[in-house]
Amino acid sequence: MAIQRVGVIGAGTMGNGIAHVFARSGFQVVLCDVEQRFLDRGLDTIGKNLDREVAKSKITAEQKAAAWTRITPVLDRAQLSGCDLVVEAATEKFAIKTEIFRDLDRICRPDVILASNTSSISITKLAAVTQRPGLVIGMHFFNPVPVMKLVEIIRGLATKQETYDAVRDLAVKLEKTPVEVNDAPGFVSNRVLMPLLNEAMFTVMEGVATPQAVDDVFKLGMAHPMGPLALADFIGLDVCLDIMRVLHDGLGDPKYRPCPLLIKMVDAGWLGKKSGRGFYTYS
Ligand code: CAA
Repeated sequence: MAIQRVGVIGAGTMGNGIAHVFARSGFQVVLCDVEQRFLDRGLDTIGKNLDREVAKSKITAEQKAAAWTRITPVLDRAQLSGCDLVVEAATEKFAIKTEIFRDLDRICRPDVILASNTSSISITKLAAVTQRPGLVIGMHFFNPVPVMKLVEIIRGLATKQETYDAVRDLAVKLEKTPVEVNDAPGFVSNRVLMPLLNEAMFTVMEGVATPQAVDDVFKLGMAHPMGPLALADFIGLDVCLDIMRVLHDGLGDPKYRPCPLLIKMVDAGWLGKKSGRGFYTYS
C-alpha cells in the first residue's frame, strides 16, 4: 500500500522538522501534540523554516504554500487513525514512548508501520509493547531536519524486511540518505557522538579549557561545523544526559558515565539553546 498520509507525534524540534520534510515532499501530514501551545510553536517554526527555504530559492513560494496546506495539526491522537505510517518524535523517555506505541497500536490499521525517531531507546523494546513488532522500526532524523541528509534506520530484532524496505524508500523520497544499523544502545550516531560531547564537558569541568577554546579546537582543527559544546547546547543538555544514561545503563561500561557538570547544569534548568543558557548564553 502506498504511503500518502503520515502521522507525526510531537511538534517539538524534531517533530516539526519531520513534519516539514514530509509536507515539502508531497505527503499529507497529521501533526499531533498534547497541548495547543506546542502545536502553535511547532507550526510557527515550520512556517519560518519554509520561509527561509523560499528566501534561499530552495523552494518556491507556491511550494511553500502547498506544503503548508498539507499539514493538519491535531490534539486528539485518535485522528491519526487514517494515517499510512506514523513517526513518533515525543519526549525521549521510555515510559512516554511505550504509552504512545501501545496507543498507536490500538488506533492505527494493523498494516501501518510505526516508526520512532528515538535517539537511543531500544526499538526492540518499543516493538514488544505492540501486537505488530514486525512493523516497528527506528527512523532517526538529525537536527536541523530540513538540512541534515542522514536518516539512521534502525532494525529491531523483529523488524520485517518489508518494513525496512518501505522506510528506506520513504527516506529517499524525502531526499535523505538512509543508513542501516541494528538495534543497540545509542545506535551508531549517539554511541559515538555523545561520549565525544560528554568528554568535552569533562575538559571544561576539570578546567582544562573554556567552552569556547574546546569548540575552537574542533571547529578549526577538525573542521566540525559546530564545536562539541555548542552542539550539546543545540541538541539540548537534557537530551544529552538522557542519552548518556541509556548508554551507561545499556552497555554497562563506566566509560559512559555522564559528566557531573552535565548533570548539575540539567538540574539547574540550563538546558542549552532552548532554555537560553547552557555552555553559552542565548538571547
Ligand atoms: N530549516 C531549514 N533550513 C535551515 C535550517 C532549518 N531549521 N537551519 C539552517 N538552515 C539552512 C540555512 O538556510 C543555510 O542554507 P544555505 O546553505 O542555502 O545558506 C544552511 O542551512 C546553513 O545554515 P546557516 O548559514 O544559518 O548556519 P551554518 O552554516 O552555521 O549552519 C548548521 C548551521 C546547519 C546547524 C551547522 O552548524 C551544522 O551542520 N551543525 C551541526 C549540526 C549537527 O551535528 N546536527 C546533528 C545533531 S545530533 C541529532 O540531531 C541527533 C540526536 O539524536 C541527538
